Amino acid sequence: MVYELDRNNIPQHIAIIMDGNGRWAAERGKPRSYGHQAGVDAVRRITSECTRLGVKFLTLYTFSTENWNRPATEVAALMGLVLSSLEDEIFMKNNVRFQVIGDIKRLPIEVQEKLQGTMDHTANNSAMTMVVALSYSSRWEITKAMHEIADEVKAGTLLAEDITEDTISKHMVTNFMPDPELLIRTGGEQRISNYLLWQIAYSELYFCDTYWPDFSEDDLHKAIADYQHRQRRFGKTGAQVEQEEKK
Ligand code: IPE
Ligand code: IPE
Ligand code: MG
Repeated sequence: MVYELDRNNIPQHIAIIMDGNGRWAAERGKPRSYGHQAGVDAVRRITSECTRLGVKFLTLYTFSTENWNRPATEVAALMGLVLSSLEDEIFMKNNVRFQVIGDIKRLPIEVQEKLQGTMDHTANNSAMTMVVALSYSSRWEITKAMHEIADEVKAGTLLAEDITEDTISKHMVTNFMPDPELLIRTGGEQRISNYLLWQIAYSELYFCDTYWPDFSEDDLHKAIADYQHRQRRFGKTGAQVEQEEKK
């Protein structure tokens, strides 16, 4: 199936909840880690296609705060996969900058070092920024932001009455990018699982049943085409939006 995409209306920022690796593996009678491994190939495919389409930020939910509660063997396999799959050459070849958001201090030290190395190495790449959310949850992030803001007020560098929505956005770990226009969740569940709660206030949500390892370029095109057929009203009336589009 070919989906006609309007190249002038590609989301600048796409966020993805990459779900369904475990079930994909189970259907094949394989261990869950086999599904995570296959998920890495999907990450490569989708990153490369997003770069080609002109997406500027791709934020991938890779490991949530809650995922620390999985069996130790699965957590270890996932950490090993982060280490083995971060190949700087692929980022360099695609001119992709690598970034991480999350409570990184909880990760094994060798993983922290590897992440830092890849961030440093790819810092000047400019086609797209791929952001991996690792040991991330939105409530962790919002709580951290509240602590920082409270500290500034206590220190007298910020007046409580000067706190705006912008102040809060600036204290989010996503402060270097715009909010996502489109959030995709694969794997059939229709929930947010503690991802980017502040940032998706007005994002378009797209859910599909495809398990993440099967998510193809075509599936991505379908999601973007769906997004492009929506009218984003931001509280206004449809007629107002149409009027503005004519201008
Ligand atoms: C998503 O796939 C990847 C991670 C959460 C690390 P899952 O591992 O959640 O796969 P399912 O949902 O059990 O199929
Ligand atoms: C969400 O998937 C987190 C990631 C994709 C990293 P989960 O599989 O952990 O979500 P729940 O538990 O089904 O909500
Ligand atoms: Mg899951």
